[in-house]
Amino acid sequence: MGIDFKGRVAIVTGAGGGLGRQHALALARRGAKVLVNDLGGARDGSGGSVSAADAVVAEIRAAGGEAIANGASVTDFAAVQAMVQQAMDAWGRVDILVNNAGILRDKSFAKMDLADFALVMNVHLMGAVHCTKAVWDIMAAQKYGRIVMTTSSSGLYGNFGQSNYGAAKMALVGLMQTLAIEGAKNDIRVNCLAPTAATRMTEGLMPEEVLQALQPEAVVPAMLVLASHEAPTRTILCAGAGTFEAANITLTQGVYLGKGEQVPEALTARLAEVTERAGEMVPQSGAAQGSNEVGKAMAGSLSD
Ligand SMILES: NC(=O)c1ccc[n+]([C@@H]2O[C@H](COP(=O)([O-])OP(=O)(O)OC[C@H]3O[C@@H](n4cnc5c(N)ncnc54)[C@H](O)[C@@H]3O)[C@@H](O)[C@H]2O)c1
Repeated sequence: MGIDFKGRVAIVTGAGGGLGRQHALALARRGAKVLVNDLGGARDGSGGSVSAADAVVAEIRAAGGEAIANGASVTDFAAVQAMVQQAMDAWGRVDILVNNAGILRDKSFAKMDLADFALVMNVHLMGAVHCTKAVWDIMAAQKYGRIVMTTSSSGLYGNFGQSNYGAAKMALVGLMQTLAIEGAKNDIRVNCLAPTAATRMTEGLMPEEVLQALQPEAVVPAMLVLASHEAPTRTILCAGAGTFEAANITLTQGVYLGKGEQVPEALTARLAEVTERAGEMVPQSGAAQGSNEVGKAMAGSLSD
């Protein structure tokens, strides 16, 4: 009855505070054994200590749950592999991975140096890649896995000063799209969570009364659904302040214009029709775009 994680093993990265801490506590409350990972650094990724993860493990144990701490940086693949081995040694399986660890280095693109761009890409994108790679074969052999990528509205829709963060967060959507397809045969379901929550990451970014409405606990139900046995796959679930939405990468029906010198002018003239959203689809794979195009070309050449 209900969503239950008894017998399941979960790894939550960046779980020493903010959303990750709430994710870890909630998974443990519902019976999961949880590896609590956190580098324990500052919001910009500097510094580090395992004490943040230790404190959450102590909280889980005090509530009667099972947990172990890990201080690896998700940017270090060898350390991530050792982290997964730590969970395997303790519990013999890994069922759930919540890729949550993250940092910010906000600046307008004009002022941003490339080191800040690369570091944010490395933590969010490569961090999730490392953790996912380290659990992938285990989940495939088990024929069971639930992977949650933490994306963001900043990636899905843009946000001033977050070109590095937005690019990394949208890259996770792309990663999900293919991993969900490749994981399907082994019941590895891969989804994205786009949270809105008041954490140290959002301090100073929103007014105080808005932050009050955005308790991180309100995001957790979306993560629990994506981590559950009944999880969907290839879904971008958005959550904040008790509201849940879904984001989709869609394709319009489009307009066949054929080939020739005047196509750019015809496309300019008919751009409103090309971008018309009625009849829009959510492709099940990248092949859908080509099929739509070739299908229209064949229909077009038949009617020529
Ligand atoms: N808070 C929001 O509104 C919001 C919105 C969209 C997305 N997110 C995403 O949610 C996730 C959690 O963010 P949060 O708001 O709880 O922020 P947070 O700063 O409280 O939590 C991030 C955690 O990740 C840890 N971390 C950072 N770098 C790490 C590394 N290399 N290895 C391991 N751990 C590392 C930090 O120590 C920290 O505890 C992030 O991926 C963030 O981008 C948050």
